[in-house]
Amino acid sequence: MELTDSEKAVLDGSEGIARQKAMELIVKYGTALGAKRLVDTNNVCGQMVPERGRYEAFAGDLDALYSRYGLDSDEVVQFPKVKAFTCQLETPMDPDPEWLAAQGKDIVDHDHYLESEQWLSGRGIELMCTCTPYQVGNVPVKGEHCAWMESSAVVYINSVLGARTNCEGNASAAASMLVGKTPYWGFHTEEHRIGTHLIIIDTPIANFEEWGLLGYYVGNAVGDSVPVLDGIRVVPTRDELKQFGAATASSGGVEMYHIPGVTAEARSVDEALGGRKPLEVHHYGPVERRQTYTEINELGDNVNVDFIMLGCPHYSIEQVEQVCTLLDGKHVRDGVNLWVFVPRALKDLANRNGYTQIIKKAGGALMSDSCPALGHLMPKGTTVMATDSAKQAHYLPSIMGIEAWYGTTKECIDAAINGRWEGELK
Ligand code: F3S
Repeated sequence: MELTDSEKAVLDGSEGIARQKAMELIVKYGTALGAKRLVDTNNVCGQMVPERGRYEAFAGDLDALYSRYGLDSDEVVQFPKVKAFTCQLETPMDPDPEWLAAQGKDIVDHDHYLESEQWLSGRGIELMCTCTPYQVGNVPVKGEHCAWMESSAVVYINSVLGARTNCEGNASAAASMLVGKTPYWGFHTEEHRIGTHLIIIDTPIANFEEWGLLGYYVGNAVGDSVPVLDGIRVVPTRDELKQFGAATASSGGVEMYHIPGVTAEARSVDEALGGRKPLEVHHYGPVERRQTYTEINELGDNVNVDFIMLGCPHYSIEQVEQVCTLLDGKHVRDGVNLWVFVPRALKDLANRNGYTQIIKKAGGALMSDSCPALGHLMPKGTTVMATDSAKQAHYLPSIMGIEAWYGTTKECIDAAINGRWEGELK
Protein backbone atom coordinates (compact mmCIF):
# COMPACT_ATOMS: atom_id res chain seq x y z
CA MET A 1 0.00 0.00 0.00
CA GLU A 2 1.26 3.46 -0.83
CA LEU A 3 1.40 5.74 2.19
CA THR A 4 2.00 9.48 2.39
CA ASP A 5 4.93 10.80 4.42
CA SER A 6 2.62 11.85 7.26
CA GLU A 7 0.95 8.41 7.32
CA LYS A 8 4.40 6.77 7.42
CA ALA A 9 5.37 9.04 10.29
CA VAL A 10 2.31 7.95 12.32
CA LEU A 11 3.19 4.34 11.51
CA ASP A 12 6.68 5.03 12.85
CA GLY A 13 5.26 6.30 16.13
CA SER A 14 5.48 10.07 15.66
CA GLU A 15 2.07 10.54 17.33
CA GLY A 16 2.41 8.01 20.11
CA ILE A 17 1.86 4.33 20.51
CA ALA A 18 -1.96 4.24 20.34
CA ARG A 19 -2.10 6.02 16.98
CA GLN A 20 0.83 3.90 15.79
CA LYS A 21 -1.12 0.72 16.58
CA ALA A 22 -4.25 2.18 14.99
CA MET A 23 -2.32 2.98 11.80
CA GLU A 24 -0.79 -0.53 11.78
CA LEU A 25 -4.29 -1.99 12.04
CA ILE A 26 -5.72 0.21 9.27
CA VAL A 27 -2.80 -0.59 6.94
CA LYS A 28 -3.07 -4.35 7.64
CA TYR A 29 -6.84 -4.25 7.10
CA GLY A 30 -6.55 -2.21 3.89
CA THR A 31 -3.78 -4.41 2.53
CA ALA A 32 -5.87 -7.54 3.11
CA LEU A 33 -8.69 -5.90 1.15
CA GLY A 34 -6.43 -4.89 -1.72
CA ALA A 35 -6.65 -1.14 -1.04
CA LYS A 36 -3.85 0.77 -2.75
CA ARG A 37 -4.03 3.75 -0.39
CA LEU A 38 -5.83 5.34 2.53
CA VAL A 39 -8.30 8.20 2.42
CA ASP A 40 -8.92 10.93 5.02
CA THR A 41 -12.08 10.66 7.07
CA ASN A 42 -13.50 13.08 9.57
CA ASN A 43 -16.70 11.16 10.27
CA VAL A 44 -16.58 7.88 12.18
CA CYS A 45 -19.46 6.06 13.89
CA GLY A 46 -18.69 3.16 16.20
CA GLN A 47 -20.16 1.04 18.96
CA MET A 48 -17.97 1.77 21.94
CA VAL A 49 -20.17 1.41 25.06
CA PRO A 50 -19.36 -2.14 26.23
CA GLU A 51 -21.91 -4.60 27.55
CA ARG A 52 -21.52 -5.55 31.20
CA GLY A 53 -19.72 -8.86 30.69
CA ARG A 54 -16.96 -7.26 28.67
CA TYR A 55 -16.74 -4.26 31.02
CA GLU A 56 -16.30 -6.54 34.03
CA ALA A 57 -13.87 -8.85 32.23
CA PHE A 58 -11.53 -5.85 32.07
CA ALA A 59 -12.47 -4.65 35.59
CA GLY A 60 -13.66 -1.35 34.13
CA ASP A 61 -10.24 -0.59 32.60
CA LEU A 62 -11.43 0.79 29.26
CA ASP A 63 -7.91 1.49 28.02
CA ALA A 64 -7.24 -2.25 28.38
CA LEU A 65 -10.58 -3.13 26.78
CA TYR A 66 -10.03 -0.90 23.75
CA SER A 67 -6.40 -1.88 23.40
CA ARG A 68 -7.67 -5.43 22.99
CA TYR A 69 -10.81 -4.94 20.93
CA GLY A 70 -10.13 -1.59 19.28
CA LEU A 71 -6.43 -1.92 18.51
CA ASP A 72 -5.95 -5.71 18.55
CA SER A 73 -3.23 -5.27 21.13
CA ASP A 74 -2.50 -7.26 24.29
CA GLU A 75 -0.24 -4.45 25.39
CA VAL A 76 -2.40 -1.89 27.21
CA VAL A 77 -2.02 1.57 25.70
CA GLN A 78 -3.74 4.76 26.72
CA PHE A 79 -6.52 5.59 24.27
CA PRO A 80 -5.98 9.26 23.33
CA LYS A 81 -8.53 11.81 22.11
CA VAL A 82 -9.98 10.89 18.75
CA LYS A 83 -8.64 12.66 15.69
CA ALA A 84 -11.79 12.30 13.53
CA PHE A 85 -15.25 13.54 14.46
CA THR A 86 -16.73 10.41 16.06
CA CYS A 87 -20.19 9.37 17.25
CA GLN A 88 -21.36 6.55 19.47
CA LEU A 89 -24.00 4.44 17.70
CA GLU A 90 -26.60 2.32 19.50
CA THR A 91 -25.65 0.76 22.82
CA PRO A 92 -26.46 -2.44 24.75
CA MET A 93 -29.25 -0.89 26.88
CA ASP A 94 -31.29 2.19 27.73
CA PRO A 95 -29.67 3.58 30.90
CA ASP A 96 -32.85 5.38 32.01
CA PRO A 97 -33.40 4.15 35.61
CA GLU A 98 -37.15 3.99 34.93
CA TRP A 99 -36.69 1.14 32.42
CA LEU A 100 -33.76 -0.77 33.96
CA ALA A 101 -35.82 -3.55 35.54
CA ALA A 102 -38.01 -3.97 32.45
CA GLN A 103 -34.85 -4.62 30.41
CA GLY A 104 -33.54 -7.10 33.00
CA LYS A 105 -30.82 -4.62 34.04
CA ASP A 106 -29.88 -3.17 37.40
CA ILE A 107 -28.10 -0.23 38.94
CA VAL A 108 -24.70 -1.87 38.40
CA ASP A 109 -25.36 -1.98 34.63
CA HIS A 110 -26.45 1.63 34.85
CA ASP A 111 -23.31 2.73 36.67
CA HIS A 112 -20.99 0.87 34.29
CA TYR A 113 -22.83 2.51 31.42
CA LEU A 114 -22.37 6.00 32.82
CA GLU A 115 -18.69 5.36 33.58
CA SER A 116 -18.19 4.17 29.99
CA GLU A 117 -19.92 7.25 28.65
CA GLN A 118 -17.76 9.50 30.74
CA TRP A 119 -14.65 7.76 29.45
CA LEU A 120 -15.83 8.03 25.83
CA SER A 121 -16.80 11.65 26.20
CA GLY A 122 -13.34 12.34 27.65
CA ARG A 123 -11.89 10.97 24.39
CA GLY A 124 -14.04 13.33 22.32
CA ILE A 125 -16.69 10.82 21.25
CA GLU A 126 -20.15 12.31 20.74
CA LEU A 127 -22.75 10.35 22.72
CA MET A 128 -25.50 10.21 20.10
CA CYS A 129 -26.41 6.65 21.12
CA THR A 130 -28.51 5.79 18.10
CA CYS A 131 -28.43 3.67 14.95
CA THR A 132 -29.70 6.75 13.08
CA PRO A 133 -27.13 9.52 13.65
CA TYR A 134 -28.42 11.14 10.43
CA GLN A 135 -31.69 11.90 12.26
CA VAL A 136 -29.99 13.89 14.99
CA GLY A 137 -27.30 15.99 13.40
CA ASN A 138 -24.67 13.77 11.82
CA VAL A 139 -25.70 14.17 8.17
CA PRO A 140 -22.64 13.60 5.97
CA VAL A 141 -22.61 15.42 2.65
CA LYS A 142 -22.43 13.88 -0.81
CA GLY A 143 -18.96 12.51 -1.49
CA GLU A 144 -17.84 12.67 2.15
CA HIS A 145 -15.62 9.73 3.15
CA CYS A 146 -16.86 8.16 6.37
CA ALA A 147 -16.11 5.07 8.44
CA TRP A 148 -19.41 3.94 9.92
CA MET A 149 -20.62 0.74 11.51
CA GLU A 150 -24.35 -0.28 11.61
CA SER A 151 -25.72 -1.71 8.37
CA SER A 152 -28.96 0.32 8.32
CA ALA A 153 -27.04 3.59 8.73
CA VAL A 154 -24.39 2.61 6.18
CA VAL A 155 -26.93 1.87 3.44
CA TYR A 156 -28.80 5.11 4.25
CA ILE A 157 -25.82 7.46 4.01
CA ASN A 158 -24.33 5.75 0.93
CA SER A 159 -27.60 5.72 -0.99
CA VAL A 160 -29.80 8.58 0.17
CA LEU A 161 -27.04 11.08 0.97
CA GLY A 162 -24.30 9.97 -1.41
CA ALA A 163 -21.71 9.81 1.38
CA ARG A 164 -19.09 7.05 1.11
CA THR A 165 -18.55 4.31 3.64
CA ASN A 166 -18.08 0.59 3.93
CA CYS A 167 -19.70 -1.26 6.81
CA GLU A 168 -16.93 -1.11 9.37
CA GLY A 169 -16.26 -3.36 12.35
CA ASN A 170 -15.37 -2.45 15.92
CA ALA A 171 -11.63 -2.53 15.37
CA SER A 172 -11.51 -0.70 12.03
CA ALA A 173 -13.85 2.03 13.32
CA ALA A 174 -11.79 2.44 16.51
CA ALA A 175 -8.58 2.70 14.49
CA SER A 176 -10.13 5.19 12.04
CA MET A 177 -11.26 7.47 14.84
CA LEU A 178 -7.69 7.66 16.16
CA VAL A 179 -5.91 8.36 12.88
CA GLY A 180 -8.62 9.96 10.69
CA LYS A 181 -7.95 7.47 7.87
CA THR A 182 -9.76 4.55 6.29
CA PRO A 183 -8.71 2.23 3.43
CA TYR A 184 -9.72 3.50 0.00
CA TRP A 185 -11.67 0.53 -1.30
CA GLY A 186 -15.26 -0.71 -1.72
CA PHE A 187 -17.88 2.04 -1.49
CA HIS A 188 -15.22 4.76 -1.31
CA THR A 189 -14.49 4.14 -4.99
CA GLU A 190 -16.66 5.14 -7.98
CA GLU A 191 -16.61 1.68 -9.51
CA HIS A 192 -18.12 -0.07 -6.50
CA ARG A 193 -21.05 2.34 -6.34
CA ILE A 194 -22.41 1.56 -9.79
CA GLY A 195 -25.70 -0.35 -9.85
CA THR A 196 -25.47 -4.01 -10.84
CA HIS A 197 -29.00 -5.41 -10.51
CA LEU A 198 -32.22 -3.92 -11.89
CA ILE A 199 -35.47 -4.26 -9.92
CA ILE A 200 -38.55 -3.39 -11.94
CA ILE A 201 -41.43 -2.40 -9.67
CA ASP A 202 -44.84 -3.43 -11.03
CA THR A 203 -46.97 -2.60 -7.98
CA PRO A 204 -47.57 0.64 -6.04
CA ILE A 205 -45.31 1.21 -3.03
CA ALA A 206 -47.68 3.24 -0.95
CA ASN A 207 -46.54 3.34 2.67
CA PHE A 208 -44.00 2.48 5.36
CA GLU A 209 -45.02 -1.20 5.50
CA GLU A 210 -44.75 -1.54 1.71
CA TRP A 211 -41.23 -0.09 1.72
CA GLY A 212 -40.25 -2.69 4.32
CA LEU A 213 -41.66 -5.51 2.16
CA LEU A 214 -39.94 -4.19 -0.95
CA GLY A 215 -36.63 -3.88 0.91
CA TYR A 216 -36.94 -7.41 2.24
CA TYR A 217 -37.59 -8.69 -1.27
CA VAL A 218 -34.69 -6.72 -2.76
CA GLY A 219 -32.20 -7.94 -0.13
CA ASN A 220 -33.20 -11.53 -0.82
CA ALA A 221 -32.95 -11.01 -4.57
CA VAL A 222 -29.57 -9.25 -4.79
CA GLY A 223 -27.60 -10.27 -1.67
CA ASP A 224 -24.78 -7.74 -1.29
CA SER A 225 -24.97 -6.29 -4.81
CA VAL A 226 -26.10 -2.75 -5.73
CA PRO A 227 -29.76 -2.70 -6.80
CA VAL A 228 -31.37 -0.03 -8.99
CA LEU A 229 -35.12 0.44 -8.57
CA ASP A 230 -37.13 1.31 -11.64
CA GLY A 231 -40.84 2.14 -11.47
CA ILE A 232 -41.06 4.07 -8.19
CA ARG A 233 -43.76 6.66 -8.83
CA VAL A 234 -43.70 8.49 -5.51
CA VAL A 235 -41.11 10.44 -3.54
CA PRO A 236 -40.54 8.31 -0.44
CA THR A 237 -40.21 9.91 2.97
CA ARG A 238 -37.00 9.76 4.97
CA ASP A 239 -38.65 7.18 7.27
CA GLU A 240 -39.65 5.00 4.32
CA LEU A 241 -36.10 5.09 2.93
CA LYS A 242 -34.78 4.29 6.41
CA GLN A 243 -37.08 1.25 6.59
CA PHE A 244 -36.30 0.16 3.01
CA GLY A 245 -32.52 0.25 3.44
CA ALA A 246 -32.61 -1.51 6.82
CA ALA A 247 -34.71 -4.30 5.27
CA THR A 248 -32.34 -4.74 2.30
CA ALA A 249 -29.42 -4.99 4.71
CA SER A 250 -31.24 -7.64 6.80
CA SER A 251 -32.54 -10.17 4.27
CA GLY A 252 -29.43 -9.43 2.18
CA GLY A 253 -26.25 -7.43 2.67
CA VAL A 254 -27.08 -4.34 0.62
CA GLU A 255 -24.87 -1.34 1.44
CA MET A 256 -25.94 0.87 -1.44
CA TYR A 257 -28.93 1.21 -3.76
CA HIS A 258 -30.20 3.67 -6.33
CA ILE A 259 -33.68 5.05 -6.89
CA PRO A 260 -33.34 7.27 -9.95
CA GLY A 261 -34.70 10.75 -9.28
CA VAL A 262 -34.64 10.17 -5.51
CA THR A 263 -31.25 9.01 -4.23
CA ALA A 264 -28.10 11.07 -4.48
CA GLU A 265 -26.17 9.52 -7.36
CA ALA A 266 -28.72 8.57 -10.01
CA ARG A 267 -30.78 10.84 -12.20
CA SER A 268 -31.76 7.95 -14.50
CA VAL A 269 -31.66 4.16 -14.57
CA ASP A 270 -28.93 4.34 -17.17
CA GLU A 271 -26.80 6.60 -15.01
CA ALA A 272 -27.35 4.38 -11.96
CA LEU A 273 -26.13 1.37 -13.97
CA GLY A 274 -23.14 3.31 -15.25
CA GLY A 275 -24.35 2.85 -18.82
CA ARG A 276 -23.97 -0.93 -18.53
CA LYS A 277 -26.43 -3.78 -18.79
CA PRO A 278 -27.61 -5.08 -15.41
CA LEU A 279 -26.21 -8.45 -14.33
CA GLU A 280 -29.72 -9.53 -13.33
CA VAL A 281 -33.25 -8.18 -13.73
CA HIS A 282 -35.96 -8.91 -11.13
CA HIS A 283 -39.63 -7.99 -11.18
CA TYR A 284 -41.48 -7.03 -8.01
CA GLY A 285 -45.22 -7.27 -8.58
CA PRO A 286 -48.30 -8.41 -6.63
CA VAL A 287 -47.10 -12.05 -6.50
CA GLU A 288 -43.65 -11.19 -5.10
CA ARG A 289 -45.26 -8.72 -2.67
CA ARG A 290 -47.53 -11.40 -1.25
CA GLN A 291 -44.76 -14.01 -1.14
CA THR A 292 -42.54 -11.56 0.77
CA TYR A 293 -45.33 -10.79 3.24
CA THR A 294 -45.83 -14.52 3.84
CA GLU A 295 -42.11 -15.09 4.27
CA ILE A 296 -41.57 -12.26 6.73
CA ASN A 297 -44.57 -13.47 8.77
CA GLU A 298 -43.72 -17.14 8.65
CA LEU A 299 -42.63 -17.14 12.30
CA GLY A 300 -46.03 -15.81 13.38
CA ASP A 301 -48.50 -18.47 14.50
CA ASN A 302 -50.08 -17.50 17.81
CA VAL A 303 -52.25 -14.37 17.36
CA ASN A 304 -52.09 -13.54 21.06
CA VAL A 305 -49.22 -11.04 21.16
CA ASP A 306 -47.47 -9.90 24.32
CA PHE A 307 -44.82 -7.50 23.00
CA ILE A 308 -45.00 -4.65 20.50
CA MET A 309 -41.66 -3.25 19.33
CA LEU A 310 -41.57 -0.03 17.33
CA GLY A 311 -38.56 2.05 16.35
CA CYS A 312 -36.18 -0.09 14.30
CA PRO A 313 -34.27 1.75 12.96
CA HIS A 314 -34.88 4.30 15.70
CA TYR A 315 -38.06 6.27 15.10
CA SER A 316 -38.15 9.88 13.94
CA ILE A 317 -40.16 12.42 15.94
CA GLU A 318 -42.87 12.26 13.23
CA GLN A 319 -43.25 8.54 13.85
CA VAL A 320 -43.50 9.09 17.61
CA GLU A 321 -46.21 11.68 17.01
CA GLN A 322 -48.05 9.15 14.81
CA VAL A 323 -47.95 6.56 17.60
CA CYS A 324 -49.40 9.12 20.02
CA THR A 325 -52.22 9.86 17.57
CA LEU A 326 -52.97 6.15 17.15
CA LEU A 327 -53.00 5.60 20.90
CA ASP A 328 -55.37 8.58 21.35
CA GLY A 329 -56.77 7.99 24.82
CA LYS A 330 -56.59 4.17 24.56
CA HIS A 331 -54.66 1.84 26.84
CA VAL A 332 -52.25 -1.02 26.22
CA ARG A 333 -53.83 -4.28 27.30
CA ASP A 334 -52.71 -5.89 30.57
CA GLY A 335 -49.98 -8.42 29.93
CA VAL A 336 -48.83 -6.66 26.73
CA ASN A 337 -45.75 -4.45 26.54
CA LEU A 338 -45.34 -1.59 24.06
CA TRP A 339 -41.77 -0.35 23.61
CA VAL A 340 -40.93 2.49 21.22
CA PHE A 341 -37.29 3.37 20.50
CA VAL A 342 -35.80 6.74 19.48
CA PRO A 343 -32.38 8.39 19.46
CA ARG A 344 -31.64 9.97 22.83
CA ALA A 345 -31.80 13.51 21.42
CA LEU A 346 -35.32 12.83 20.15
CA LYS A 347 -36.33 11.44 23.53
CA ASP A 348 -35.57 14.89 24.87
CA LEU A 349 -37.75 16.43 22.15
CA ALA A 350 -40.51 13.90 22.86
CA ASN A 351 -40.37 14.81 26.54
CA ARG A 352 -40.82 18.49 25.72
CA ASN A 353 -43.65 17.82 23.26
CA GLY A 354 -45.49 15.64 25.79
CA TYR A 355 -45.20 12.47 23.65
CA THR A 356 -43.29 10.51 26.30
CA GLN A 357 -46.07 11.16 28.77
CA ILE A 358 -48.83 10.22 26.29
CA ILE A 359 -47.15 6.86 25.56
CA LYS A 360 -46.53 6.25 29.24
CA LYS A 361 -50.11 7.11 30.18
CA ALA A 362 -51.28 4.59 27.59
CA GLY A 363 -49.15 1.93 29.30
CA GLY A 364 -46.19 1.99 26.87
CA ALA A 365 -42.56 3.03 27.15
CA LEU A 366 -40.57 5.48 25.05
CA MET A 367 -36.98 4.30 25.25
CA SER A 368 -33.67 5.30 23.68
CA ASP A 369 -30.08 4.26 22.98
CA SER A 370 -30.64 0.57 22.26
CA CYS A 371 -33.16 -1.96 20.95
CA PRO A 372 -34.26 -5.56 21.64
CA ALA A 373 -32.21 -7.17 18.85
CA LEU A 374 -29.00 -5.29 19.62
CA GLY A 375 -29.22 -5.45 23.40
CA HIS A 376 -30.98 -8.86 23.61
CA LEU A 377 -33.62 -7.03 25.62
CA MET A 378 -37.24 -8.06 25.93
CA PRO A 379 -39.92 -7.92 28.58
CA LYS A 380 -39.64 -11.05 30.70
CA GLY A 381 -41.80 -13.89 29.43
CA THR A 382 -42.29 -12.52 25.90
CA THR A 383 -43.47 -15.17 23.45
CA VAL A 384 -45.02 -13.29 20.50
CA MET A 385 -43.90 -9.92 19.16
CA ALA A 386 -45.52 -7.60 16.65
CA THR A 387 -43.51 -4.93 14.85
CA ASP A 388 -43.64 -2.54 11.90
CA SER A 389 -39.92 -3.10 11.28
CA ALA A 390 -38.83 -5.60 8.63
CA LYS A 391 -35.36 -5.64 10.23
CA GLN A 392 -36.55 -6.40 13.76
CA ALA A 393 -39.00 -9.05 12.42
CA HIS A 394 -36.03 -10.65 10.65
CA TYR A 395 -33.61 -10.71 13.60
CA LEU A 396 -35.45 -10.83 16.91
CA PRO A 397 -37.20 -14.22 16.52
CA SER A 398 -33.91 -15.99 15.80
CA ILE A 399 -31.98 -14.09 18.50
CA MET A 400 -34.59 -14.53 21.24
CA GLY A 401 -36.56 -17.60 20.11
CA ILE A 402 -39.95 -15.91 19.88
CA GLU A 403 -42.70 -15.65 17.27
CA ALA A 404 -43.10 -12.41 15.32
CA TRP A 405 -45.69 -10.59 13.23
CA TYR A 406 -44.90 -7.82 10.76
CA GLY A 407 -47.45 -5.22 9.67
CA THR A 408 -48.40 -1.57 9.67
CA THR A 409 -47.82 0.75 12.60
CA LYS A 410 -51.59 0.94 13.07
CA GLU A 411 -51.91 -2.85 13.17
CA CYS A 412 -49.15 -2.93 15.80
CA ILE A 413 -50.87 -0.32 17.97
CA ASP A 414 -54.20 -2.16 17.58
CA ALA A 415 -52.43 -5.33 18.72
CA ALA A 416 -51.02 -3.48 21.72
CA ILE A 417 -54.52 -2.38 22.71
CA ASN A 418 -56.37 -5.64 21.96
CA GLY A 419 -53.62 -8.17 22.67
CA ARG A 420 -54.41 -9.86 19.35
CA TRP A 421 -52.72 -9.75 15.96
CA GLU A 422 -55.27 -8.99 13.27
CA GLY A 423 -52.91 -7.72 10.61
CA GLU A 424 -53.30 -8.72 6.99
CA LEU A 425 -51.94 -7.69 3.62
CA LYS A 426 -54.51 -5.38 2.07
FE1 F3S B 1 -31.35 0.14 15.30
FE2 F3S B 1 -31.65 -2.03 16.69
FE3 F3S B 1 -32.87 -1.80 14.46
S1 F3S B 1 -29.82 -0.89 16.52
S2 F3S B 1 -31.54 -0.60 13.19
S3 F3S B 1 -33.20 -0.50 16.28
S4 F3S B 1 -31.85 -3.65 15.15
